[in-house]
Amino acid sequence: MAEIKIRNLHKEFGTGADKVVALEDVNLDMGGHVFVSIVGPSGCGKSTLLNILSGIETPTSGSLEITQSGHKAAPGYVFQAARLLPWRTVMDNLLFVQQDKSDETRARCQKYLEMVQLGDKGDKFPGELSGGMQQRVGIARAFSIEPDVLFMDEPFSHLDAITARSLRRELHTMWADTGKTIIFVTHDVGEAVELSNRILVFAQGGRLEDDITVDLDFPRDAADEEVAIAKASVLRKFEEFDLLAT
Ligand SMILES: Nc1ncnc2c1ncn2[C@@H]1O[C@H](COP(=O)(O)OP(=O)(O)OP(=O)(O)O)[C@@H](O)[C@H]1O
Ligand SMILES: [Mg+2]
Repeated sequence: MAEIKIRNLHKEFGTGADKVVALEDVNLDMGGHVFVSIVGPSGCGKSTLLNILSGIETPTSGSLEITQSGHKAAPGYVFQAARLLPWRTVMDNLLFVQQDKSDETRARCQKYLEMVQLGDKGDKFPGELSGGMQQRVGIARAFSIEPDVLFMDEPFSHLDAITARSLRRELHTMWADTGKTIIFVTHDVGEAVELSNRILVFAQGGRLEDDITVDLDFPRDAADEEVAIAKASVLRKFEEFDLLAT
């Protein structure tokens, strides 16, 4: 299982009067079979942190280690939009990110398409699928490389509430079955409480304000009283920090 060690991570964009501090001196340890959600208001550095973890951005200063049994861990990503290649079939979109195209690899891709209920859609092109189905292909693609750690940046925010709910359940089952480390950005506190063992609350200026453990059994339903109480308590902290930021 993956271990993530972040030390004094700092990220600035621009210089002089245009300077923006996106992350301020972040220190964090995450790892094991954990589902971590990162929440906070728009512009508080959530995507920047994920992009640095994914290697898309480099930090201004500080250090970052993502390891698996002492070696560099293999990451997978799911972003807000599925980012599929429209001229390739669903199966070819999954095969495109694999190291080989063997029968074994193809069978693995098929297994993950089945996990997101799209086992019969391998021959379709992305344009023939709904937005929710495309997002599921994106999730199957990320799982199909069997990464040690999966980074997800608001993967369900463009979807309708019912599709998002069923995808959350599928994702959670896959997390439980595969034992991955998942780091999940959302600004939906309810989604974070439903899915995670741990919630990191960021505030404007990229400060990590709180690190909350959510110790409730899975599966969780938004209608459960304990889940509603946990959500209200995170939202209260959210309000506090928003007030502090103004
Ligand atoms: N490439 C960039 N160039 C300049 N500034 C940037 C860049 N990327 C992010 N920023 C700034 O860094 C800050 C953090 O942005 P980030 O995208 O990480 O926020 P976020 O928490 O993901 O917000 P949202 O919830 O709206 O997605 C913001 O002030 C943003 O304007
Ligand atoms: Mg973002």
